[in-house]
Amino acid sequence: MSSLLVDDIGELVTNVPTPGGGLLGLRRDVALLVEAGRVVWIGPARYAPAADRRIDAGGGAVLPGFVDSHAHLVFAGDRAAEFAARMAGEPYTGGGIRTTVGATRAASDDDLRDTVRRLRDEAMRQGTTTMEIKSGYGLTVADEARSLRIAAEVTAETTFLGAHVVPAEYAGRPDDYVGLVCGPMLTAATPYARWVDVFCERGAFDADHARAILTVGQAAGLGLRLHANQLGPGPGVRLGVELGAASVDHCTHLSDADVDALAGSATTDDGTVATLLPGAEFSTRSPYPDARRLLDAGVTVALATDCNPGSSYTSSMPFCVALAVREMRMTPAEAVWAATAGGARALRRTDVGVLRPGARADLMILDAPSHLHLAYRPGVPLIRQVLHNGVPQCRL
Ligand code: NIG
Ligand code: FE
Repeated sequence: MSSLLVDDIGELVTNVPTPGGGLLGLRRDVALLVEAGRVVWIGPARYAPAADRRIDAGGGAVLPGFVDSHAHLVFAGDRAAEFAARMAGEPYTGGGIRTTVGATRAASDDDLRDTVRRLRDEAMRQGTTTMEIKSGYGLTVADEARSLRIAAEVTAETTFLGAHVVPAEYAGRPDDYVGLVCGPMLTAATPYARWVDVFCERGAFDADHARAILTVGQAAGLGLRLHANQLGPGPGVRLGVELGAASVDHCTHLSDADVDALAGSATTDDGTVATLLPGAEFSTRSPYPDARRLLDAGVTVALATDCNPGSSYTSSMPFCVALAVREMRMTPAEAVWAATAGGARALRRTDVGVLRPGARADLMILDAPSHLHLAYRPGVPLIRQVLHNGVPQCRL
């Protein structure tokens, strides 16, 4: 069995708490051995075992690959003109979703596949080794099923978001559309989906609709996630916690009761994570979520890109880390943890977002000596190498 040693590591982020290692479980003067796609050994560099191949990290920091737990990659077209209009003062309402639905329905499977792979590769070059991908721009039985089928070609973390908006042909008949989502659409989606999600927001789906869809999705064996409290206050966050969702995402407009509910659920490993998506606030020029309030209350926080052609067309987790530090008052360590271990929690994964023997060998090597540089040097391509399942992804 071929082995690979990563050495000359300036700083190793393990996310395994150790005395003196802080939140990120930082270690120095260590090397890391990979076999069969897994980390098999981490220890003092001077005791590193012989290996078939070696990667010299050149004194750079080594981190777990980013876990981007929220992305909408199955779509066609773009909405650059909508972005330009927003930057000229137009508000974001989510109404543009229907524009992308039209383009997505008209696209071929190969066009959709090319976009998914292009964005997945773009994300990987920026350190992302696990990516959740949602449907939600098809909104017919056939188009939701094919979106998930194409997403499942590149990730195990697929999410059925048939309840993204009520499509134009169901205008004024949201109950009928929810019936379709809960019935034939769910049946067609389930073979390709691990999760079910609902956009629970004024103008999209209310709490009764969200509860109905999540309940029937759970009965079909899917895990729960929710878009909640993005554009205004509402019942989504508390509903997600009540139903045991793995994550409630956006969390931009929260009441004290929402924060209390999230903090209460953070006491167990299968609690509800608050996933913050600062790319959406950046690209819609909206106030950022109050990450400090959540962290100080003890809530488990994840960071993700929300990559989609409307509200957040970025695949860059380093950009989200930098935004979280600069704009949301997260410390660099909190932001890096949220983008790696936090994302893993939001997907209920224990094999990623962490570097320890037995974990997947998903990691990145920085052209910088510490994780701090991800926020300290915003916009700079610092990711020198990415290993996914132990396989180097970048040509050095
Ligand atoms: O997470 N909020 C709903 N869905 C996406 C936006 C999708 C779009 O604008 O196309 C989001 O921001
Ligand atoms: Fe989203």
